[in-house]
Amino acid sequence: MSIIIHNSDEINTMRESCRLAAEVLDFIAPYVKPGVTTLELDKLCHDYIVNEQKAYPSPLNYQPDPNGRPYPNSICTSVNSEICHGIPNDKPLKNGDIINLDITVYKNGFHGDTSRTFLVGDKVTSHAKRLVQVTYECMWLGIMQVKPGNYLGDIGHAIQTHAEKNAYSVVEEFCGHGIGRTFHAEPQVLHYGKPKTGPKLQAGMIFTIEPMINQGKRHIRFANNGWTAITKDRSLSAQFEHTVVVTDTGYEVLTVSPNMPQIPDFVK
Ligand code: MF3
Ligand code: CO
Ligand code: CO
Repeated sequence: MSIIIHNSDEINTMRESCRLAAEVLDFIAPYVKPGVTTLELDKLCHDYIVNEQKAYPSPLNYQPDPNGRPYPNSICTSVNSEICHGIPNDKPLKNGDIINLDITVYKNGFHGDTSRTFLVGDKVTSHAKRLVQVTYECMWLGIMQVKPGNYLGDIGHAIQTHAEKNAYSVVEEFCGHGIGRTFHAEPQVLHYGKPKTGPKLQAGMIFTIEPMINQGKRHIRFANNGWTAITKDRSLSAQFEHTVVVTDTGYEVLTVSPNMPQIPDFVK
């Protein structure tokens, strides 16, 4: 098995799929308020993707494990101690929650994948806000390692170093992934590791960087629904995700949109 190198036509088509995914996050952001349920957010995103974007929500009925249960909804909604793959439900969000919304859109034969963690209301604690900000910085520090000749391990190392410097931990059971015509492809993009290890990056590779950072220990447990991962110690977890392409000189973030969060100052 090997890592696909995409040509410029394929990268152009990926630009559109990825932009659409990011625009879903822009669309849904104003609805992320105390009192809304994650099922309502799911329905709003589903209708926007299908009716406005004329695209398909990749998670819906996604079944990577032939013995597992297909994913039942169109987006993932992971609240507070939920790490990823939170399944939408009818419980209202509370003032002070944090919630990751993970959107994947399939259009013209290609998938675009992106997520953000949102603050719900005006009562999010300064500790939770700091976790969210450091997680965002971790993603960008990983992205900044993307250029031909660098190694996948350089990305994981940059992320792990920043998380641990802030006394947080990196979830190891889930990783970024190659993406394109396939939702989850090679390579696995670990969010921890050692410099100069793993595959060498080449122009045309497309993958996600999507660190999950815990306030407490890194260990996870699974909810009874078979999908949702939760921190074992019930501490908060945050995540951000971009899809990036390796260019001749560095990287291009494909999941861009008008209202994406401000890029940290250290990103040149
Ligand atoms: N979007 C997630 C990722 O970043 C995958 C979700 S799979 C689902 O890879 F089935 F849970 F939706
Ligand atoms: Co992903
Ligand atoms: Co995703």
